[in-house]
Amino acid sequence: AAATFARGDLEGRHIVISAGGTREPLDPVRFLGNRSSGKQGIALAKAAHAAGAHVELVAANIDTGLLSVLPADITITPVESTLELQEAMHSAQERADAIIMAAAVADYRPAETTDSKMKKSGDEGLTLRLVQNPDILRGLVDERSRQTGLSQQIIVGFAAETGDADTTALDYARSKFLRKGVDLLVFNDVSDDRAFGHDDTKVQIITSDRGDVTVGEEFLGSKDHVSQKVIATLSDKFTH
Ligand code: CTP
Ligand code: CA
Repeated sequence: AAATFARGDLEGRHIVISAGGTREPLDPVRFLGNRSSGKQGIALAKAAHAAGAHVELVAANIDTGLLSVLPADITITPVESTLELQEAMHSAQERADAIIMAAAVADYRPAETTDSKMKKSGDEGLTLRLVQNPDILRGLVDERSRQTGLSQQIIVGFAAETGDADTTALDYARSKFLRKGVDLLVFNDVSDDRAFGHDDTKVQIITSDRGDVTVGEEFLGSKDHVSQKVIATLSDKFTH
């Protein structure tokens, strides 16, 4: 059955949502990026707002046309790189009753960024050296456990997974849920290439109930519909 929330379920709650995809600068005009449009995060922001929350959206490289559909009282903080996103999330964390990390975060960034435009040299190819980015979600979970004032905060992650020969996409998602220490993990099955840039998405919400990992039923629908389901599940966490 489609879970829906009642208007007002998140009344008085402050929800911080990251959305879009990070861009890792190489030089003043070039970056390494990904195809995330930000539509999922925008749909979540709308759903949380409709449930009565005060919403803060940290928007990584989202088209202004997409952002313009949002209610005017949603605070938007634009960021580009993973390090900028990390800083924005950490400064928003202290205000948040819940955090939803829907952004597609680059796992790596160029080891060096130059202040002037890179020039070609000779006829050779180019090898870029990358370094690993911080795991923002992990950092937020760790910070929550360090600060007693944040102990009630609910943290939600997203995971787009594909399966392979010996591990299913769901198995990968289940271990990611445990590894990340989040309260909810929205598992997006992208084996059939549904997620990126499209309007329909297939998810299962992984959560835990008194220590037991529970995997919700497969839920297929528009990003708006999926977001309502996520917000309804999040609202339940507050009331329990
Ligand atoms: N995430 C994050 N910081 C990163 C990478 C990911 O906060 N550096 C968040 C994403 O926003 C998402 C969740 O972690 O909510 C899972 O992202 P995913 O890329 O699936 O996880 P990774 O830990 O990067 O694992 P993988 O090696 O499978 O990419
Ligand atoms: Ca990753």
